[in-house]
Amino acid sequence: MTSDWSASQYLLYADERTRPARDLLAQLPLTDVRKVVDIGCGPGNSTELLVARWPNAEVSGFDTSPAMLAEARKRLPQVRFFQADAGEWTPEPDTDLLFANAVFQWLPDHIEVLAQYVRTVKTGAVLAVQMPDNLAEPTHRLMSQTAAAMPFADKLAGAAREPLPPVTTYVDALSAAGAAVDAWHTIYNHPMKDAAAIVEWVKSTGLRPFLAPLDEGEQQRFLEAYEAAVAEAYPPLADGSRLLHFPRLFLVARKG
Ligand SMILES: C[S@@+](CC[C@H](N)C(=O)[O-])C[C@H]1O[C@@H](n2cnc3c(N)ncnc32)[C@H](O)[C@@H]1O
Repeated sequence: MTSDWSASQYLLYADERTRPARDLLAQLPLTDVRKVVDIGCGPGNSTELLVARWPNAEVSGFDTSPAMLAEARKRLPQVRFFQADAGEWTPEPDTDLLFANAVFQWLPDHIEVLAQYVRTVKTGAVLAVQMPDNLAEPTHRLMSQTAAAMPFADKLAGAAREPLPPVTTYVDALSAAGAAVDAWHTIYNHPMKDAAAIVEWVKSTGLRPFLAPLDEGEQQRFLEAYEAAVAEAYPPLADGSRLLHFPRLFLVARKG
């Protein structure tokens, strides 16, 4: 497994992964939009929604991953995609919308980054963010438990992501930066064919830091144990399929 993201693995569940981006977009209090940036644009699936919603706006997108950017450029050749790190990037003050679907959970200090974005943009601009809030879900608890039980556990120390802070922390920080904040959670129940499908889902995201440090044999051993644990934690429905219970946090901050 390389350290870059795999666009094809990520797009295995493209519809399900894009649904929160659609749900976030549906809540934006914006009509006249001229400049939009898709932060952590991935393979351009979220950017595509932004272009469709505001076809006359200047939409751009950035990501740290060359593989994701290559895919995004193929999908939307008319859009400017560039490589940047959300933690170091600064928005142009006249941006109308900063959109970030499923990226800030990867940045440990993201609250300060988001607050700084709000401080930087003009009055009326909107910051729209969605993050998986699923560290307490079996998918993620079992990654750490499986890792701890492996003979190569020491290679995986520090692989787990930190849980998101409470929603009150976001609302306080973004309000203090000058925004009116709408925050909510949605729990999706994604139908999945079987336990292996759940493992495939997390392979391109939450499992990456657990698999990357392992050699092929270790990866196989880890995945077998992890899939068995997932199969127990997500019992089959009457037809044999499983429901992936998936909470996500949404934030819409409008600069006052
Ligand atoms: C789960 S994907 C989300 C892709 C897309 N926005 C969507 O709605 O499906 C997360 C993306 O965030 C990118 N990413 C992770 N850390 C980043 C950072 N610090 N700055 C910019 N992009 C980052 C990854 O490369 C990946 O493409």
